[in-house]
Amino acid sequence: MNWFSSLFGKREGDADQGGTASAEIALAPPPPASERGRGLPRFRGMAADQLGVGTRRHDRVRLNLRRAFTPARPIMDPAMLAGRTDLLRTMIRAIEDQYLHLVLFGPRGIGKTSILHVLSGIARESRYLVRYISCGERTSFDPLFRSVMVDIPLLFHARYDPASAEIEEGLSFADLLDESPLTVDRASELFSQVAGTRLLIVLDEFDRAGEADFRQSVAELIKNVSDRGSQVQLVIAGVAQNLTEIITHVPSIRRNILGLRVPNMTQDGIAELISNGQHASGMTFTSKALQLINLTALGLPYLASLVGQHAGFAALDRSSTTIDHADVHRGISQVLAHLDLRIAPDVRQRMEQAIRDGHERTLSRLAQVALANSFLLPRAEIARELNSGSNAGLGNATETLERMSKVYRLITPSVVHVADAYAFVDDGIALYLWVRMISQDAACRDAA
Ligand SMILES: Nc1ncnc2c1ncn2[C@@H]1O[C@H](COP(=O)(O)OP(=O)(O)O)[C@@H](O)[C@H]1O
Ligand SMILES: [Mg+2]
Repeated sequence: MNWFSSLFGKREGDADQGGTASAEIALAPPPPASERGRGLPRFRGMAADQLGVGTRRHDRVRLNLRRAFTPARPIMDPAMLAGRTDLLRTMIRAIEDQYLHLVLFGPRGIGKTSILHVLSGIARESRYLVRYISCGERTSFDPLFRSVMVDIPLLFHARYDPASAEIEEGLSFADLLDESPLTVDRASELFSQVAGTRLLIVLDEFDRAGEADFRQSVAELIKNVSDRGSQVQLVIAGVAQNLTEIITHVPSIRRNILGLRVPNMTQDGIAELISNGQHASGMTFTSKALQLINLTALGLPYLASLVGQHAGFAALDRSSTTIDHADVHRGISQVLAHLDLRIAPDVRQRMEQAIRDGHERTLSRLAQVALANSFLLPRAEIARELNSGSNAGLGNATETLERMSKVYRLITPSVVHVADAYAFVDDGIALYLWVRMISQDAACRDAA
């Protein structure tokens, strides 16, 4: 029986009759519509996500829960952004008062995109023109900045009279461009003509932009618009640990840029994230549940959101809207399965070998250090962690780092300019190992 018939031709209870029966199965009349697909999993709600009159209370809560914790999507609603008030204040002051360009950096999942969306909304409220762009491998200067020009009405051009025909016609800065490729000089010149408003160009995932020229051009653009006192500012975000990665090309722009590392959230920040989710879902977390989420999240909003959502589903599966600490355990197991799927098979094999060879505890400790340090493994931190109280006997840091990098190839010297640090070959490993340790510890405690 091939994969197709084994999936669609066989109904529950049918014995596999081998090759001879396949013709019979193929000729059998299709089952009535009502029976088709029986036994396959189904979506629980309708795509419109609308609540009908007859929607059961639990379906309603489930729907709200999906909106309350969105680990796969950045936060768009300012009311749902937890714990980033000080950072946002710093960003706003730097933009508004100091006319600085910003570079926001930090690991995946720390909340950069969420912060950028909320910042963009706040800026628009103050009538800034804001253009948010998520960079990709093929991002290049001409099409990107051409599309930005489309968004600036000629109304904001210093040399056009507001009553002019062009403005009445609704033309934009893009209409001043010809067919030739848009150069940094031309873009800078046009940006220096912006008047009567301020423009923020937000470039997210800047490190993903693959073209070598692109970063260089953006660095030059920042220098030009700063030198000309333009009303245009750039806000750049990426996973680069270190600013220099982004601005190596034009060192003199350093004084025009404020680099901000997005730190892990505090415990209060995570508590706020859960409290927001509680509000939005209509579910309640017990204080022990909250504690366990906080312990697991290590200040990473992505992890808190993922565990919060799975814990909520675990509670709903037992028809409760109160999420207790056992629901969080169940949620953590789900999260572990989810993280497991994200690790590349070859890396997974090497990790399993290291675990079989007795290095699980060491690896979990390394993972914990990584999650608390922007996914980096600074040698000094490793030494401190491996020698601290309950971990004594895990071996010395240098030996451990050598073994994990040379024998198991699970970590590698970090490419960023942080003195003497390593990083896991894949961020997913750190998340997986840490959550695995938490779930095992929790299981042990329950068994005791
Ligand atoms: N301040 C926050 N409050 C609540 N949830 C957050 C916050 N920051 C991030 N998250 C959650 O964490 C996940 C990752 O955030 P994101 O902004 O996409 O991070 P990054 O862009 O750094 O990879 C998002 O799905 C979002 O749900
Ligand atoms: Mg992002």
